Amino acid sequence: MDGNGRWARKKGFPRIYGHRAGAEAVRSTVRAAGELGIEVLTLYAFSTENWLRPQTETRALMGLLRMTLRREVIELNRNNVRLRAIGRIHELPQNVRDELERCVDITRSNSGLILNLALNYGGRQDILDAVNASIKQGKKTIEEEDISRNLTTAGLSDPDLLIRTSGEYRISNFLLWQIAYAEIYVTPVLWPDFKRTHLQEAILNYQKRERRFGGL
Ligand code: FPP
Repeated sequence: MDGNGRWARKKGFPRIYGHRAGAEAVRSTVRAAGELGIEVLTLYAFSTENWLRPQTETRALMGLLRMTLRREVIELNRNNVRLRAIGRIHELPQNVRDELERCVDITRSNSGLILNLALNYGGRQDILDAVNASIKQGKKTIEEEDISRNLTTAGLSDPDLLIRTSGEYRISNFLLWQIAYAEIYVTPVLWPDFKRTHLQEAILNYQKRERRFGGL
């Protein structure tokens, strides 16, 4: 969900204003994804590297996350959305974890869109944690399956489409293992401006791709 800071700067506002607008884009995108029949939507909300930002920004982001979860849980539940979170959740502030746990619990038995929030998430860390978990489980030789079932995305299918906003051509430590065969779509749109039409454009573009998974 890249481009919040630039969106705010263009308008002469502080960065957090861009994150707030970003939270609104989350709301509309989640609704659109549910209506379009998408099974899993993973949003990269906070990376392990984002802690390098000034404390004022990281604190504001944690506050925004907590408030958004609290405000949206009823709507998510009403729309049959099931919330999940991936990343080193145990390292998040206690009040964010509490709110997250509450939302996950409330939406646990929903059968619609799975909204997967990547929080304090890093692809390399996810792989490392999966390898270490496999070793703890007594594995001497680690197979692909050992990694997959110990990643925080265990049980979710690998993403088909990766959308990168704000025109950046980078992966930024996102789902490194899981995106092995994902189709990448880069849009110049800054995340706060991302609307249903942009999601639809991305899906239409994806539908024209020929996926060979390394075969012919
Ligand atoms: C990246 O843009 C965005 C983030 C690091 C934060 C994303 C968080 C939200 C949209 C808050 C709400 C989230 C949820 C799930 C409720 P950037 O700050 O790197 O922008 P820039 O590249 O323009 O500086």
